[in-house]
Amino acid sequence: MAGDNTKQVADWNGSVGERWAADQERTDSFTRPYGDAAIAAANVLPGETVLDIGCGCGDTSLAVAAIVGAHGKVLGVDVSAPMLEVARKRAASLRNVTFLQADASTAALPGLFDALISRFGVMFFDDPVAAFIHLRSALKNGGRFAFVCWQTAAENPWAYLPAQAARKAIGADPTPADPHAPGPFAFGDREGLKTILRTAGFADLLIEGFEAPMYLGSSPRSAAEGVTRIGPASRIALDAGPAHLPAIVQAIEAALAPYAATDGSVFLPGRTWIATGHA
Ligand SMILES: C[S@@+](CC[C@H](N)C(=O)[O-])C[C@H]1O[C@@H](n2cnc3c(N)ncnc32)[C@H](O)[C@@H]1O
Repeated sequence: MAGDNTKQVADWNGSVGERWAADQERTDSFTRPYGDAAIAAANVLPGETVLDIGCGCGDTSLAVAAIVGAHGKVLGVDVSAPMLEVARKRAASLRNVTFLQADASTAALPGLFDALISRFGVMFFDDPVAAFIHLRSALKNGGRFAFVCWQTAAENPWAYLPAQAARKAIGADPTPADPHAPGPFAFGDREGLKTILRTAGFADLLIEGFEAPMYLGSSPRSAAEGVTRIGPASRIALDAGPAHLPAIVQAIEAALAPYAATDGSVFLPGRTWIATGHA
C-alpha cells in the first residue's frame, strides 16, 4: 500500500487543478528556473527514456522531450485531468511525449526508465517512502532521479508572507498546519527528505540548495491576486470562501507592498532543494 492520496487526487481534479490549468503560462514562467535546475541535474541524454512525475501541464515533459530527441521517450504522469488536458494539447505535434493520468505512487508504469524527474510534483504522497519504493522499481538498474522541491515554508517568503497575511485577514490561527503533511513544503527538512529517499532504497544521494527569485506580479495588487489563485494563500482563500476574498487580497497587497521594486514588481526569494540519486 502507498497511503491514501484521495484528498490530493480530488484537489488536483477540482478547483486547484483547474486554476493551474487556466494559469499555465504564468505559472510556468515563474517556476521554469527551478525546473531547469532539476533537468540539468538529471543529465538527460539523447535517446533516453524519462518519467516526469506530477508533470501537471507538461512544461518539464516538453523540455526533456527536446533533449531526448526522436530516439528517446518521455512519459508524464499526473493525477490531474484538467492539467493533463493542457499538457496533451501542448504536446499534440510531438511523437516522443505521452501522458498518463494515474497516481504515480502506485501506477503500473510501462517499461523501465533511465531517469525520473520532477518539478514540484513529488511532495504530495501520503506515504512518501512507499511511493519512492514504487518509483524506484520503474528505473533501470543504476537509473537515476533528479527533482526539485521547496525548502520549508519559513525559507520561502513568497509563500509564507501572503499565507500569513491571509490567515490574519480572516482571524485564523497564524500557525501553519503540520509541516510534513503532503503539500508543497512536505520535503522542506533536508535530513527528513534524505531519510525518506535512503529508506526507499536510493543511493548516492545529494540534496543541494538552489535559490532563484520568485516573481509574484507586476505590482503588489496583481501579486496579491495571483497568490490567491495559486499557491498556499489560495488554499486559505478557498477554505475561507468568496466573501472573504476582497479582505484577503487587500491584506496580502499591504504585506507585499514593502517588497515592491521601483517599477512595482514583486520578487521574493524562492528556496528549493535539488535532490539526485541512483536506484
Ligand atoms: C505543484 S504541481 C506541479 C506541476 C508541474 N510539475 C509543474 O511544475 O508545473 C504538483 C503536481 O503533482 C501532481 N500530483 C499530486 N499528487 C500526485 C500523485 N500521487 N501522482 C501523480 N501526480 C500527482 C498534481 O496533480 C500536480 O500536477
